[in-house]
Amino acid sequence: MDRIRIVGGNKLNGIIPISGAKNAALPLMIASLLTDETLILDNVPRLADVAQLQRILGNHGLDIMSKGKRPGDHEYQGQTLHISAANIIDTTAPYELVSKMRASFWVIAPLLARMHVAKVSLPGGCAIGTRPVDLLIMALEKLGAELQIDGGYVIARAPGGLTGAEIDFPKVTVSGTHVALMAATLAKGTTVINNAACEPEIVDVADCLNKMGAKISGAGTPRIVIEGVKKLHGARHTVLPDRIEAGTYAMAVAMTGGDVQLAGARPELLQSALDVLTEAGATITPNNEGIRVTRNGAGISPVKVTTAPFPGFPTDLQAQLMALMACAKGSSHITETIFENRFMHVQELARFGARISLDGETAIIDGIAKLRGAPVMATDLRASVSLVIAALAAEGETTVNRVYHLDRGFERLEEKLSACGATIERISG
Ligand code: EPU
Repeated sequence: MDRIRIVGGNKLNGIIPISGAKNAALPLMIASLLTDETLILDNVPRLADVAQLQRILGNHGLDIMSKGKRPGDHEYQGQTLHISAANIIDTTAPYELVSKMRASFWVIAPLLARMHVAKVSLPGGCAIGTRPVDLLIMALEKLGAELQIDGGYVIARAPGGLTGAEIDFPKVTVSGTHVALMAATLAKGTTVINNAACEPEIVDVADCLNKMGAKISGAGTPRIVIEGVKKLHGARHTVLPDRIEAGTYAMAVAMTGGDVQLAGARPELLQSALDVLTEAGATITPNNEGIRVTRNGAGISPVKVTTAPFPGFPTDLQAQLMALMACAKGSSHITETIFENRFMHVQELARFGARISLDGETAIIDGIAKLRGAPVMATDLRASVSLVIAALAAEGETTVNRVYHLDRGFERLEEKLSACGATIERISG
Protein backbone atom coordinates (compact mmCIF):
# COMPACT_ATOMS: atom_id res chain seq x y z
CA MET A 1 0.00 0.00 0.00
CA ASP A 2 1.37 3.42 -0.94
CA ARG A 3 2.60 5.83 1.73
CA ILE A 4 3.51 9.50 1.64
CA ARG A 5 6.74 10.70 3.20
CA ILE A 6 7.00 14.33 4.20
CA VAL A 7 9.90 16.23 5.74
CA GLY A 8 8.39 19.31 7.34
CA GLY A 9 9.62 22.85 7.82
CA ASN A 10 9.57 24.32 4.29
CA LYS A 11 7.44 27.35 3.48
CA LEU A 12 5.10 26.97 0.53
CA ASN A 13 5.67 29.37 -2.35
CA GLY A 14 4.26 29.23 -5.88
CA ILE A 15 1.07 28.36 -7.72
CA ILE A 16 -1.35 25.53 -6.93
CA PRO A 17 -3.96 24.85 -9.62
CA ILE A 18 -7.35 23.93 -8.15
CA SER A 19 -9.08 20.89 -9.67
CA GLY A 20 -12.75 20.31 -10.41
CA ALA A 21 -14.87 19.59 -7.34
CA LYS A 22 -15.25 15.92 -6.42
CA ASN A 23 -18.59 16.56 -4.73
CA ALA A 24 -19.99 18.18 -7.86
CA ALA A 25 -18.43 15.73 -10.34
CA LEU A 26 -20.02 12.70 -8.65
CA PRO A 27 -23.67 13.87 -8.75
CA LEU A 28 -23.12 15.34 -12.24
CA MET A 29 -21.97 11.94 -13.49
CA ILE A 30 -24.99 10.34 -11.82
CA ALA A 31 -27.31 12.89 -13.50
CA SER A 32 -26.25 11.41 -16.86
CA LEU A 33 -28.63 8.49 -16.08
CA LEU A 34 -31.56 10.89 -16.62
CA THR A 35 -31.14 11.10 -20.40
CA ASP A 36 -30.57 8.75 -23.34
CA GLU A 37 -28.40 11.44 -24.97
CA THR A 38 -24.73 12.14 -24.21
CA LEU A 39 -23.74 14.34 -21.28
CA ILE A 40 -20.28 15.87 -21.70
CA LEU A 41 -18.56 16.91 -18.48
CA ASP A 42 -15.38 19.01 -18.61
CA ASN A 43 -12.87 19.50 -15.79
CA VAL A 44 -13.67 16.20 -14.06
CA PRO A 45 -10.91 15.54 -11.51
CA ARG A 46 -8.84 12.38 -11.84
CA LEU A 47 -9.71 10.79 -8.53
CA ALA A 48 -10.27 7.28 -7.20
CA ASP A 49 -13.91 8.14 -6.37
CA VAL A 50 -14.54 9.25 -9.97
CA ALA A 51 -13.01 6.01 -11.29
CA GLN A 52 -15.14 4.00 -8.87
CA LEU A 53 -18.30 5.78 -10.01
CA GLN A 54 -17.32 5.08 -13.63
CA ARG A 55 -17.33 1.36 -12.72
CA ILE A 56 -20.72 1.68 -11.01
CA LEU A 57 -22.28 3.53 -13.97
CA GLY A 58 -20.68 1.01 -16.32
CA ASN A 59 -22.54 -1.71 -14.42
CA HIS A 60 -25.82 0.03 -15.33
CA GLY A 61 -24.77 -0.13 -18.98
CA LEU A 62 -23.43 3.40 -19.51
CA ASP A 63 -20.74 4.13 -22.08
CA ILE A 64 -18.13 6.47 -20.67
CA MET A 65 -15.34 7.86 -22.79
CA SER A 66 -12.53 9.94 -21.38
CA LYS A 67 -11.09 12.37 -23.94
CA GLY A 68 -7.41 13.31 -23.98
CA LYS A 69 -6.11 16.83 -23.77
CA ARG A 70 -6.89 19.49 -26.35
CA PRO A 71 -4.28 21.99 -27.58
CA GLY A 72 -3.97 24.82 -25.05
CA ASP A 73 -5.31 22.77 -22.13
CA HIS A 74 -3.49 23.36 -18.85
CA GLU A 75 -1.54 20.36 -17.58
CA TYR A 76 -3.87 20.18 -14.58
CA GLN A 77 -7.07 20.61 -16.59
CA GLY A 78 -9.40 17.83 -15.53
CA GLN A 79 -10.56 15.12 -17.90
CA THR A 80 -13.53 15.42 -20.22
CA LEU A 81 -16.02 12.59 -19.86
CA HIS A 82 -18.59 11.75 -22.52
CA ILE A 83 -21.27 9.76 -20.71
CA SER A 84 -24.05 8.04 -22.60
CA ALA A 85 -26.92 6.29 -20.84
CA ALA A 86 -28.65 5.41 -24.14
CA ASN A 87 -29.21 1.87 -22.86
CA ILE A 88 -29.67 1.19 -19.17
CA ILE A 89 -29.22 -2.56 -19.01
CA ASP A 90 -29.38 -3.02 -15.25
CA THR A 91 -31.28 -0.99 -12.62
CA THR A 92 -29.54 -2.70 -9.70
CA ALA A 93 -26.62 -1.10 -7.87
CA PRO A 94 -25.00 -4.00 -5.99
CA TYR A 95 -23.60 -3.99 -2.47
CA GLU A 96 -20.02 -4.71 -3.64
CA LEU A 97 -20.00 -1.40 -5.55
CA VAL A 98 -22.19 0.89 -3.39
CA SER A 99 -20.36 -0.08 -0.19
CA LYS A 100 -17.12 1.35 -1.66
CA MET A 101 -18.58 4.83 -2.18
CA ARG A 102 -21.63 6.20 -0.41
CA ALA A 103 -22.58 8.76 -3.07
CA SER A 104 -23.29 5.92 -5.52
CA PHE A 105 -26.53 5.31 -3.57
CA TRP A 106 -27.81 8.48 -5.27
CA VAL A 107 -28.27 6.55 -8.57
CA ILE A 108 -31.60 5.53 -7.05
CA ALA A 109 -33.08 8.94 -8.00
CA PRO A 110 -32.40 9.05 -11.76
CA LEU A 111 -33.08 5.31 -12.16
CA LEU A 112 -36.45 5.72 -10.51
CA ALA A 113 -37.26 8.90 -12.44
CA ARG A 114 -36.39 7.47 -15.86
CA MET A 115 -36.83 3.69 -15.53
CA HIS A 116 -39.53 3.78 -12.79
CA VAL A 117 -37.64 1.06 -10.92
CA ALA A 118 -34.39 0.73 -9.00
CA LYS A 119 -32.76 -1.69 -6.61
CA VAL A 120 -29.89 -0.10 -4.75
CA SER A 121 -27.84 -1.46 -1.87
CA LEU A 122 -27.98 0.51 1.38
CA PRO A 123 -24.56 2.13 1.77
CA GLY A 124 -23.98 1.40 5.48
CA GLY A 125 -22.11 3.55 8.00
CA CYS A 126 -18.67 5.05 7.54
CA ALA A 127 -15.78 6.42 9.52
CA ILE A 128 -17.35 9.85 10.07
CA GLY A 129 -20.74 8.72 11.35
CA THR A 130 -23.79 6.51 10.82
CA ARG A 131 -24.93 8.56 7.81
CA PRO A 132 -28.50 7.27 7.36
CA VAL A 133 -30.50 7.66 4.13
CA ASP A 134 -33.94 8.09 5.77
CA LEU A 135 -34.36 11.61 4.36
CA LEU A 136 -33.55 10.44 0.82
CA ILE A 137 -36.16 7.71 1.17
CA MET A 138 -38.66 10.22 2.59
CA ALA A 139 -38.13 12.53 -0.41
CA LEU A 140 -38.63 9.72 -2.95
CA GLU A 141 -41.78 8.53 -1.14
CA LYS A 142 -43.16 12.08 -1.26
CA LEU A 143 -42.68 11.96 -5.02
CA GLY A 144 -44.87 8.86 -5.11
CA ALA A 145 -42.30 6.06 -5.11
CA GLU A 146 -43.05 2.80 -3.29
CA LEU A 147 -40.00 1.71 -1.36
CA GLN A 148 -39.22 -1.39 0.61
CA ILE A 149 -36.04 -2.63 2.21
CA ASP A 150 -35.15 -6.24 1.59
CA GLY A 151 -31.86 -8.04 2.11
CA GLY A 152 -29.92 -4.80 2.58
CA TYR A 153 -31.34 -3.31 -0.62
CA VAL A 154 -33.81 -0.50 -1.18
CA ILE A 155 -36.26 -1.69 -3.80
CA ALA A 156 -38.03 1.28 -5.34
CA ARG A 157 -40.89 1.38 -7.82
CA ALA A 158 -42.96 4.14 -9.36
CA PRO A 159 -45.10 2.26 -11.91
CA GLY A 160 -46.73 5.34 -13.45
CA GLY A 161 -43.68 7.56 -12.93
CA LEU A 162 -42.98 10.06 -10.15
CA THR A 163 -45.32 12.94 -9.29
CA GLY A 164 -44.30 16.41 -8.11
CA ALA A 165 -44.77 17.17 -4.40
CA GLU A 166 -43.74 19.46 -1.56
CA ILE A 167 -40.67 18.06 0.24
CA ASP A 168 -39.77 19.56 3.63
CA PHE A 169 -36.39 18.46 4.91
CA PRO A 170 -36.28 18.57 8.73
CA LYS A 171 -32.51 19.17 8.51
CA VAL A 172 -30.26 20.42 5.74
CA THR A 173 -28.98 17.48 3.70
CA VAL A 174 -26.78 17.66 0.62
CA SER A 175 -27.52 14.06 -0.37
CA GLY A 176 -31.26 14.51 0.21
CA THR A 177 -31.31 17.67 -1.90
CA HIS A 178 -29.37 16.04 -4.77
CA VAL A 179 -31.71 13.04 -4.78
CA ALA A 180 -34.91 15.12 -4.61
CA LEU A 181 -33.63 17.46 -7.33
CA MET A 182 -32.69 14.71 -9.78
CA ALA A 183 -35.87 12.71 -9.17
CA ALA A 184 -38.15 15.74 -9.53
CA THR A 185 -36.80 16.79 -12.95
CA LEU A 186 -38.81 14.02 -14.67
CA ALA A 187 -41.80 13.97 -12.25
CA LYS A 188 -45.27 15.02 -13.37
CA GLY A 189 -46.03 18.52 -12.10
CA THR A 190 -44.25 20.83 -9.69
CA THR A 191 -41.94 19.91 -6.81
CA VAL A 192 -40.92 22.32 -4.07
CA ILE A 193 -37.93 21.45 -1.87
CA ASN A 194 -37.98 23.37 1.42
CA ASN A 195 -34.92 23.68 3.66
CA ALA A 196 -32.80 22.61 0.67
CA ALA A 197 -29.01 22.52 0.97
CA CYS A 198 -27.46 25.69 -0.53
CA GLU A 199 -24.01 24.19 -1.22
CA PRO A 200 -22.36 25.39 -4.47
CA GLU A 201 -22.28 21.78 -5.70
CA ILE A 202 -26.11 21.73 -5.62
CA VAL A 203 -26.14 24.89 -7.75
CA ASP A 204 -23.67 23.33 -10.18
CA VAL A 205 -25.83 20.22 -10.59
CA ALA A 206 -29.00 22.33 -11.01
CA ASP A 207 -27.21 24.43 -13.67
CA CYS A 208 -26.26 21.29 -15.57
CA LEU A 209 -29.77 19.81 -15.26
CA ASN A 210 -31.22 23.07 -16.64
CA LYS A 211 -28.82 22.81 -19.60
CA MET A 212 -30.25 19.30 -20.09
CA GLY A 213 -33.76 20.76 -20.33
CA ALA A 214 -34.88 20.66 -16.68
CA LYS A 215 -36.85 23.57 -15.22
CA ILE A 216 -35.26 24.32 -11.86
CA SER A 217 -35.28 27.67 -10.07
CA GLY A 218 -34.02 28.70 -6.65
CA ALA A 219 -30.95 26.42 -6.44
CA GLY A 220 -28.55 27.99 -3.94
CA THR A 221 -31.46 29.11 -1.75
CA PRO A 222 -33.38 27.02 0.81
CA ARG A 223 -36.41 26.80 -1.54
CA ILE A 224 -35.94 25.05 -4.86
CA VAL A 225 -38.82 24.75 -7.33
CA ILE A 226 -38.76 22.14 -10.08
CA GLU A 227 -41.31 21.96 -12.91
CA GLY A 228 -41.16 18.38 -14.14
CA VAL A 229 -40.49 17.78 -17.86
CA LYS A 230 -41.11 14.68 -19.99
CA LYS A 231 -37.55 14.18 -21.19
CA LEU A 232 -34.05 15.54 -20.67
CA HIS A 233 -31.46 15.82 -23.42
CA GLY A 234 -27.68 15.89 -23.77
CA ALA A 235 -25.60 18.90 -22.69
CA ARG A 236 -22.05 20.06 -21.98
CA HIS A 237 -21.04 21.32 -18.55
CA THR A 238 -17.82 22.28 -16.77
CA VAL A 239 -17.39 21.09 -13.18
CA LEU A 240 -16.89 24.00 -10.77
CA PRO A 241 -13.58 24.34 -8.87
CA ASP A 242 -13.15 22.39 -5.64
CA ARG A 243 -13.69 24.76 -2.71
CA ILE A 244 -12.52 22.13 -0.21
CA GLU A 245 -9.27 21.53 -2.08
CA ALA A 246 -8.74 25.32 -2.24
CA GLY A 247 -9.49 25.68 1.49
CA THR A 248 -7.15 22.80 2.31
CA TYR A 249 -4.18 24.36 0.50
CA ALA A 250 -5.01 27.76 2.01
CA MET A 251 -4.76 26.15 5.46
CA ALA A 252 -1.47 24.51 4.48
CA VAL A 253 0.02 27.90 3.54
CA ALA A 254 -1.30 29.46 6.77
CA MET A 255 0.40 26.59 8.60
CA THR A 256 3.84 26.69 6.94
CA GLY A 257 3.98 30.38 6.03
CA GLY A 258 4.78 31.48 2.48
CA ASP A 259 2.95 32.87 -0.52
CA VAL A 260 0.76 30.75 -2.80
CA GLN A 261 -1.66 31.54 -5.60
CA LEU A 262 -4.61 29.12 -5.67
CA ALA A 263 -5.21 29.23 -9.40
CA GLY A 264 -8.84 28.93 -10.45
CA ALA A 265 -10.22 29.03 -6.89
CA ARG A 266 -13.39 31.07 -6.42
CA PRO A 267 -13.44 33.05 -3.15
CA GLU A 268 -17.25 33.25 -2.95
CA LEU A 269 -17.36 29.45 -2.65
CA LEU A 270 -15.39 29.44 0.60
CA GLN A 271 -15.80 32.88 2.16
CA SER A 272 -16.44 31.55 5.68
CA ALA A 273 -13.18 29.58 5.62
CA LEU A 274 -11.26 32.56 4.21
CA ASP A 275 -12.66 34.74 7.03
CA VAL A 276 -11.44 32.22 9.61
CA LEU A 277 -8.00 32.12 7.97
CA THR A 278 -7.80 35.92 8.05
CA GLU A 279 -8.69 35.86 11.74
CA ALA A 280 -5.96 33.25 12.23
CA GLY A 281 -3.36 35.62 10.74
CA ALA A 282 -3.19 34.73 7.03
CA THR A 283 -3.54 37.38 4.34
CA ILE A 284 -6.13 36.47 1.74
CA THR A 285 -6.25 38.39 -1.53
CA PRO A 286 -8.84 37.42 -4.14
CA ASN A 287 -7.68 38.31 -7.67
CA ASN A 288 -8.59 37.63 -11.29
CA GLU A 289 -6.79 34.29 -11.37
CA GLY A 290 -8.00 32.92 -8.03
CA ILE A 291 -6.97 33.52 -4.43
CA ARG A 292 -3.55 34.50 -3.11
CA VAL A 293 -2.76 33.27 0.40
CA THR A 294 0.23 34.51 2.37
CA ARG A 295 1.46 34.36 5.92
CA ASN A 296 4.72 35.97 6.79
CA GLY A 297 6.31 36.42 10.19
CA ALA A 298 3.34 36.65 12.51
CA GLY A 299 2.22 33.48 14.27
CA ILE A 300 -1.15 31.76 14.07
CA SER A 301 -3.95 33.21 16.22
CA PRO A 302 -6.48 30.86 17.86
CA VAL A 303 -10.10 30.82 16.62
CA LYS A 304 -13.54 29.59 17.68
CA VAL A 305 -15.37 27.89 14.84
CA THR A 306 -18.56 25.83 14.46
CA THR A 307 -19.20 23.82 11.30
CA ALA A 308 -22.50 24.50 9.53
CA PRO A 309 -24.18 23.97 6.18
CA PHE A 310 -23.18 26.41 3.40
CA PRO A 311 -22.48 29.33 3.67
CA GLY A 312 -21.18 28.35 7.14
CA PHE A 313 -17.77 26.85 7.84
CA PRO A 314 -17.67 23.47 6.00
CA THR A 315 -17.33 20.22 7.93
CA ASP A 316 -15.01 19.10 5.11
CA LEU A 317 -12.41 21.67 6.33
CA GLN A 318 -12.80 20.96 10.05
CA ALA A 319 -9.90 18.49 10.34
CA GLN A 320 -7.56 20.75 8.34
CA LEU A 321 -8.38 23.73 10.59
CA MET A 322 -7.67 21.59 13.63
CA ALA A 323 -4.19 20.78 12.29
CA LEU A 324 -3.58 24.52 11.80
CA MET A 325 -4.81 25.39 15.28
CA ALA A 326 -2.44 22.81 16.78
CA CYS A 327 0.26 25.47 16.35
CA ALA A 328 -1.80 28.56 17.29
CA LYS A 329 -0.69 30.91 20.05
CA GLY A 330 -3.46 29.98 22.49
CA SER A 331 -6.55 27.86 22.84
CA SER A 332 -9.01 27.22 19.97
CA HIS A 333 -12.48 25.67 19.99
CA ILE A 334 -13.85 23.75 17.01
CA THR A 335 -17.42 22.43 17.19
CA GLU A 336 -18.61 19.81 14.68
CA THR A 337 -22.36 19.93 14.10
CA ILE A 338 -22.79 18.02 10.81
CA PHE A 339 -21.36 14.56 11.54
CA GLU A 340 -21.41 12.99 14.98
CA ASN A 341 -18.12 11.14 14.72
CA ARG A 342 -15.86 13.33 12.68
CA PHE A 343 -12.98 13.56 15.15
CA MET A 344 -10.98 10.51 14.09
CA HIS A 345 -8.01 12.78 13.30
CA VAL A 346 -7.68 13.92 16.94
CA GLN A 347 -5.76 10.81 18.03
CA GLU A 348 -3.48 10.97 15.00
CA LEU A 349 -2.76 14.70 15.41
CA ALA A 350 -1.78 13.85 18.99
CA ARG A 351 1.02 11.71 17.51
CA PHE A 352 2.59 14.97 16.28
CA GLY A 353 2.43 16.27 19.86
CA ALA A 354 -0.79 18.28 19.33
CA ARG A 355 -2.76 18.96 22.53
CA ILE A 356 -6.41 18.36 21.79
CA SER A 357 -9.20 17.35 24.15
CA LEU A 358 -12.80 16.53 23.29
CA ASP A 359 -15.88 17.76 25.09
CA GLY A 360 -18.89 16.30 23.29
CA GLU A 361 -18.99 17.80 19.83
CA THR A 362 -16.33 20.40 20.64
CA ALA A 363 -12.57 19.98 20.35
CA ILE A 364 -10.36 22.23 22.44
CA ILE A 365 -6.95 22.69 20.92
CA ASP A 366 -4.13 24.16 22.99
CA GLY A 367 -1.60 25.35 20.48
CA ILE A 368 2.07 24.42 20.86
CA ALA A 369 5.13 26.04 19.26
CA LYS A 370 6.22 23.08 17.13
CA LEU A 371 4.78 19.75 16.03
CA ARG A 372 7.10 16.79 15.54
CA GLY A 373 6.84 14.36 12.61
CA ALA A 374 5.53 10.83 13.24
CA PRO A 375 4.13 7.79 11.41
CA VAL A 376 0.36 8.38 11.12
CA MET A 377 -2.71 7.16 9.28
CA ALA A 378 -6.32 8.20 9.00
CA THR A 379 -9.66 6.66 8.29
CA ASP A 380 -11.20 9.25 6.01
CA LEU A 381 -10.28 11.63 3.28
CA ARG A 382 -10.33 14.99 5.07
CA ALA A 383 -8.73 13.56 8.21
CA SER A 384 -5.88 12.19 6.05
CA VAL A 385 -5.15 15.56 4.50
CA SER A 386 -5.14 17.22 7.93
CA LEU A 387 -2.21 14.94 8.75
CA VAL A 388 -0.43 16.12 5.59
CA ILE A 389 -0.91 19.75 6.71
CA ALA A 390 0.46 18.98 10.17
CA ALA A 391 3.41 17.13 8.61
CA LEU A 392 4.30 20.06 6.32
CA ALA A 393 4.92 22.25 9.37
CA ALA A 394 6.27 19.60 11.73
CA GLU A 395 9.92 19.19 12.60
CA GLY A 396 11.39 16.06 11.01
CA GLU A 397 9.87 13.24 9.03
CA THR A 398 6.28 12.00 8.79
CA THR A 399 4.92 8.95 6.99
CA VAL A 400 1.22 9.09 6.16
CA ASN A 401 -0.14 5.59 5.67
CA ARG A 402 -3.38 4.52 3.93
CA VAL A 403 -2.84 7.00 1.12
CA TYR A 404 -5.84 5.62 -0.79
CA HIS A 405 -8.03 7.94 1.28
CA LEU A 406 -6.13 10.94 -0.14
CA ASP A 407 -6.40 9.57 -3.68
CA ARG A 408 -10.18 9.54 -3.31
CA GLY A 409 -10.35 13.33 -3.12
CA PHE A 410 -7.05 15.11 -3.85
CA GLU A 411 -5.70 15.11 -7.37
CA ARG A 412 -1.87 14.95 -7.58
CA LEU A 413 -1.49 16.16 -4.01
CA GLU A 414 2.22 15.48 -3.72
CA GLU A 415 2.98 17.02 -7.14
CA LYS A 416 1.08 20.20 -6.33
CA LEU A 417 2.77 20.60 -2.93
CA SER A 418 6.30 19.73 -4.05
CA ALA A 419 6.02 22.28 -6.88
CA CYS A 420 5.63 24.86 -4.07
CA GLY A 421 8.72 23.73 -2.19
CA ALA A 422 7.40 21.00 0.11
CA THR A 423 9.55 17.92 0.66
CA ILE A 424 6.95 15.27 -0.09
CA GLU A 425 7.09 11.99 -1.99
CA ARG A 426 4.97 8.91 -2.55
CA ILE A 427 6.51 5.61 -1.60
CA SER A 428 4.93 2.78 -3.57
CA GLY A 429 4.22 -0.66 -2.21
N1 EPU B 1 -28.54 12.74 7.22
C1 EPU B 1 -29.58 12.05 7.80
N2 EPU B 1 -30.44 11.37 6.99
C2 EPU B 1 -30.31 11.37 5.63
C3 EPU B 1 -29.25 12.09 5.04
C4 EPU B 1 -28.38 12.78 5.87
O1 EPU B 1 -29.72 12.03 9.03
O2 EPU B 1 -31.13 10.72 4.96
C5 EPU B 1 -27.58 13.45 8.10
C6 EPU B 1 -26.16 12.92 7.95
O3 EPU B 1 -25.96 11.76 8.72
C7 EPU B 1 -25.35 14.10 8.42
C8 EPU B 1 -26.18 15.29 7.94
O4 EPU B 1 -27.50 14.80 7.72
O5 EPU B 1 -25.28 14.11 9.82
C9 EPU B 1 -25.70 15.93 6.66
O6 EPU B 1 -25.55 14.94 5.66
P1 EPU B 1 -25.58 15.31 4.11
O7 EPU B 1 -26.65 14.53 3.45
O8 EPU B 1 -25.64 16.79 3.99
O9 EPU B 1 -24.15 14.82 3.63
P2 EPU B 1 -23.80 13.91 2.37
O10 EPU B 1 -24.58 14.36 1.20
O11 EPU B 1 -23.82 12.49 2.75
C10 EPU B 1 -22.00 15.50 1.39
C11 EPU B 1 -20.57 15.39 0.98
C12 EPU B 1 -19.70 15.25 2.22
C13 EPU B 1 -19.93 16.49 3.08
C14 EPU B 1 -21.41 16.64 3.43
C15 EPU B 1 -21.72 17.91 4.20
C16 EPU B 1 -20.63 14.35 -1.21
C17 EPU B 1 -20.33 13.17 -2.06
N3 EPU B 1 -20.39 14.24 0.09
O12 EPU B 1 -22.30 14.30 2.11
O13 EPU B 1 -18.37 15.22 1.77
O14 EPU B 1 -19.18 16.37 4.27
O15 EPU B 1 -22.19 16.66 2.21
O16 EPU B 1 -21.34 19.02 3.49
O17 EPU B 1 -21.08 15.38 -1.70
C18 EPU B 1 -16.12 14.51 1.76
O18 EPU B 1 -16.05 14.99 0.62
O19 EPU B 1 -15.11 14.14 2.41
C19 EPU B 1 -17.43 14.39 2.38
C20 EPU B 1 -17.67 13.60 3.43
